[in-house]
Amino acid sequence: MAILLTGGAGYVGSHTSIELLNAGYEVIIVDNLSNSKYAAVSRVEELTGKKVAFYETDILDRVSLDFIFNQHQIDSVIHFAGLKAVGESVDIPLKYYLNNVSGTISLCEIMAKHNVKSLVFSSSASVYGTPETVPIKEDFPLATTNPYARTKLMIEEIFRDLYTSDNEWQIALLRYFNPIGAHASGRIGEDPNDIPNNLMPFITQVAIGKREKLSIFGNDYSTHDGTGVRDFIHVVDLAKGHLKALEKVKNLKEVEAFNLGTGKGYSVLDLINAFEKVTGLKVPYQITSRRAGDIAICYANPEKSNRELNWKAEKDIEDMCKDAWNWQKLNPNGYEEK
Ligand SMILES: NC(=O)c1ccc[n+]([C@@H]2O[C@H](COP(=O)([O-])OP(=O)(O)OC[C@H]3O[C@@H](n4cnc5c(N)ncnc54)[C@H](O)[C@@H]3O)[C@@H](O)[C@H]2O)c1
Repeated sequence: MAILLTGGAGYVGSHTSIELLNAGYEVIIVDNLSNSKYAAVSRVEELTGKKVAFYETDILDRVSLDFIFNQHQIDSVIHFAGLKAVGESVDIPLKYYLNNVSGTISLCEIMAKHNVKSLVFSSSASVYGTPETVPIKEDFPLATTNPYARTKLMIEEIFRDLYTSDNEWQIALLRYFNPIGAHASGRIGEDPNDIPNNLMPFITQVAIGKREKLSIFGNDYSTHDGTGVRDFIHVVDLAKGHLKALEKVKNLKEVEAFNLGTGKGYSVLDLINAFEKVTGLKVPYQITSRRAGDIAICYANPEKSNRELNWKAEKDIEDMCKDAWNWQKLNPNGYEEK
């Protein structure tokens, strides 16, 4: 069965490709490499001993997408492609709306043309905005605090309208919490361009000496140690959730959202402590002011995914730290082999 992955060369997409190939699926990747490297795809092939059909293509390019859908008998699409830097989305919102929202419309038009109507979408916990309580359930009110999150929420709404207009569509919305870690081989992992936006790559880059110290944005939140609490999930657990969603999506009777998180909240300081314990290294940090748009506590209630997808995150915070460090150590310059 052939699955097309938009953005499949990226962090979550490359890990999902491995799980799909190992489970016997055929993988087709469409990625414009705006935030990834082809090396991720060749390493996926190396780790699995299987071939990937790779197209360096932008999802806004309908002519090329049409060609790709003509070349392959595609069963379902997993739609990872998107820009994800919250800060940049505040500075350059149109870039985000064009890439994420218009890109999704372009993809759906070509899917409809080829009668491929099964889709698993990378949404985000950011669609919950600032939740009134935790853990967060899928039916909590949706509200957003930045343009990136609004692109995700708009796309979710576009999918609902699409389904209303044509209920042959089968669409699952996967709301990721905070993916970290890397494949246990250390061959694929998160390889941010420039300064990392996310916490774990920053921690590992400080630990390896590429950056002097970590900035913690605020220690005056009402949490057990004052730093923000998040639901960190191992990227391999997250990847496995996509296989479960592909099975489930065929039976959905409406557009449905699923939280992919562990259900446990760890603070920034908890994560640093776990990392130091696992690696025996010190991670120097400084406390700086709060970052606009950050919330105090965010973690999932994953019961719906546990029950309906038959999926559960298995790896713990120490596995996440160990694998993230292994990737950083083995690839000090990410995919640039120097
Ligand atoms: N990593 C996270 O913390 C996180 C959390 C919640 C949701 N998400 C969402 O999950 C998805 C995957 O995230 P990731 O961490 O793997 O990000 P990533 O940047 O590593 O991967 C996204 C991939 O999409 C590609 N891409 C972007 N725009 C494209 C376009 N127009 N055409 C073709 N390819 C395009 C990029 O080159 C990249 O390879 C994204 O949609 C992201 O918003 C990520």
